[in-house]
Amino acid sequence: MLQLDQRPRRLRRHPWIRDLVREHSLSAKDLIWPVFVIEGEHRREAIPSMPGVERLTIDHLVEAASEAKSLGITSMALFPVTDPAKKDPRGTLALDPENLTCRAARALKRAHPEIGLIADVALDPYTSHGHDGVVIDGDVHNDETVAILARMSVVLAGAGFDVVAPSDMMDGRIGAVRAALEQAGHHNTLILSYAAKYASAFYGPFRDAVGSASALGGADKRTYQMDPGNSDEALREVALDIEQGADLVMVKPGMPYLDIVRRVKERFGVPTVAYQVSGEYAMLRAASERGWLSWDKCMSESLLAFKRAGADAILTYAAVEAARWLAKG
Ligand code: PBG
Repeated sequence: MLQLDQRPRRLRRHPWIRDLVREHSLSAKDLIWPVFVIEGEHRREAIPSMPGVERLTIDHLVEAASEAKSLGITSMALFPVTDPAKKDPRGTLALDPENLTCRAARALKRAHPEIGLIADVALDPYTSHGHDGVVIDGDVHNDETVAILARMSVVLAGAGFDVVAPSDMMDGRIGAVRAALEQAGHHNTLILSYAAKYASAFYGPFRDAVGSASALGGADKRTYQMDPGNSDEALREVALDIEQGADLVMVKPGMPYLDIVRRVKERFGVPTVAYQVSGEYAMLRAASERGWLSWDKCMSESLLAFKRAGADAILTYAAVEAARWLAKG
């Protein structure tokens, strides 16, 4: 007969004991809901590569925020869809306090002042070439771009955003954004830096959703977003952004980069956010639609995995659905 000193399975025999000893859990309060905003009224548009996600006009967005709030979701990240006719090489519309993003923020703040609002800071929704910055002599020009992003951040904070989230991967932008916010009196605006953002093919469906794929026309962002082969470099990027004044840092994409989430959290111990990006959402959705995976089980498991890896919060397009599952228990 087998004589064992240790039988780890004892801790797994019943739901009550598994519940007692579980190390990590997911709550709706961990979730940040990214949404796509469109011009107009009473319209919602399906996104073919992201089934279940819709682009919403501001009125629908305000309504959807009520449901999210009632399910315990406390923050949202806004992504505007810009009419191609309004894009130009410098992304001028980014600095207009009356642009769609700013109007959406004001409407949401009026209706739901307690919801935390996060603005993406990058020029890609506004540039005719689809890059996150201005292009000079074929290069996405770092310093010119940073100057614009700093002004853009002040405009966004003025519109009511609680958090500005630079997602462009230019050098020195966190310091410039922090200085501009301070100078404009926005001392309490948080900076969530997309500190370790990789040049990933998993952003495909997002670029369909906001229309930057067609603007990019096959170009990639490898001269500014990180090389997927690198890990130590992520730590250097995060260190710089913390030094320059970031309050929270992000790793993106999520599931293929959980090792980075873990290293960042362990090394710096700062609030660490992971982004389950559009391609990750689409993969799980597509396989589930084919009957190959269980949507709710696999999505829930992947969100819990972010927590286990060390993420404090997770951006996910499935936030509202996941919150519904969590509410049911
Ligand atoms: C743009 C931005 C991107 C995402 C968030 N902000 C795309 C990109 O860098 O091209 C991707 C999000 C997703 O795929 O869900 N600065």
